[in-house]
Amino acid sequence: MSKESQWKTSTGFILASAGSAIGLGAMWKFPYMAGIYGGGAFLLLFLIFTIFVGLPLLIMEFTVGKMGRTYTTQIYSKLTGKKWLNIIGWNGNLAVFILFGFYSVIGGWIIIYIGNVILQMLSIEKTTLTNINFEAIISNPWLTVLGQGIFIFLTMIIVMLGVEKGLEKASKVMMPLLFIFLIIVVVKSLTLDGAIDGVRYILQPRLEDISMEGILFALGQSFFTLSLGTTGMITYASYAPKEMTIKSSAISIVIMNILVSVLAGLAIFPALKTFGYEPQEGPGLLFKVLPLVFSQMGFGVMFYFIFLILFLFAALTSSISLLELNVSNFTKNDNSKRKSVALIASILVLIISIPATLSFSSLSTVKFGAGTIFDNMDFIVSNILMPLGALGTTLVVGQLLDKEALKESFGRDKFKFFAPWYFLIKFFAPWYFLIKFVMPVVIILVFIVQLF
Ligand code: TRP
Repeated sequence: MSKESQWKTSTGFILASAGSAIGLGAMWKFPYMAGIYGGGAFLLLFLIFTIFVGLPLLIMEFTVGKMGRTYTTQIYSKLTGKKWLNIIGWNGNLAVFILFGFYSVIGGWIIIYIGNVILQMLSIEKTTLTNINFEAIISNPWLTVLGQGIFIFLTMIIVMLGVEKGLEKASKVMMPLLFIFLIIVVVKSLTLDGAIDGVRYILQPRLEDISMEGILFALGQSFFTLSLGTTGMITYASYAPKEMTIKSSAISIVIMNILVSVLAGLAIFPALKTFGYEPQEGPGLLFKVLPLVFSQMGFGVMFYFIFLILFLFAALTSSISLLELNVSNFTKNDNSKRKSVALIASILVLIISIPATLSFSSLSTVKFGAGTIFDNMDFIVSNILMPLGALGTTLVVGQLLDKEALKESFGRDKFKFFAPWYFLIKFFAPWYFLIKFVMPVVIILVFIVQLF
């Protein structure tokens, strides 16, 4: 994506940034995290953080992007005149690099499942939806590295050819379709035996289930799904049309992310009882449960296949933007370097992603800090680099930037939106107060708690 390619309309901007933000975070990570950290209690924390912390921060990133209009590794110096502050941009680049490393593991699983289902449809593969052996798949080092290699390769080709625009157009159809499919799965799930227990599990917060860890991971989840602190959203806003409406765009992205997360939860948890699973399955949760739900439908294999393609699409629109962030920061406007930079970045990502994949097989016993190598990569990104990046930006915005210029970029949306937190974001003053005084304290507090 070059700086010249601005979107003509606000809708184009929302589609592109939503495509980037909505991905594995909402569909895959939310249910598995919720399953580990108390179901409804986790959802409640996630909602609170997303609305009261995530949304103002997302608006902040859009405001900064719209003001600075340049690459994220130079936007901070452009806005403040202080060169060293570009480190916040580089922190984002490091974050998306590691993020892509473990994102590709899950992308690879999707590819392997697609392969498996194609073989099933051709009757070459003896397994059916009811007995895809997840554990056997992820413990096969060669297969999983191949799957993730294909995922990285697909991402690389799209970035090399610079055809993201085409994909963004396609997302106009693919995203709503994915949404419809999710609703179909939810409806099916809700008809299974004991579904109501699952519904209660994910929708009813039991306050005794709230733990310190749950709080930290719920905040990390909000950062992850909204792509905060990685400068991804700053980048999108930096080439958005002048008249883009920051707050309504941010609200749309927040609402879509919450909806997809809740739907993913409602697709999975009501089905657990019927199939004898516990919520605490971990990263494999979605991959273990959904094929079983589809197996209960007529033409289940075909529907599951289409679902996987849509799911892959959602993951790719995010991974492309992960890779693109590094590529565009290293090539600037020089498109002749695009192919070589994309190739080198992809090879480096592949190298760091292999230990992440092997966390589920040969390296599964290697545990430290937050758990396996995969868990640690996720933790470093979601709980350290993303909050640090967001903290840096709140400090720049609250302490260094000119208030009037900020206000100008913040703009005045004419939308009508009635929500309890409405006044926090419609008006500049309360939002500015939050960013200047509240957010830095919240993020620093979370860091201190995390240390102990
Ligand atoms: N929000 C993305 C998801 O939910 C993950 C993500 C985090 C991301 N930071 C990003 C994607 C930056 C693209 C760019 O899957």
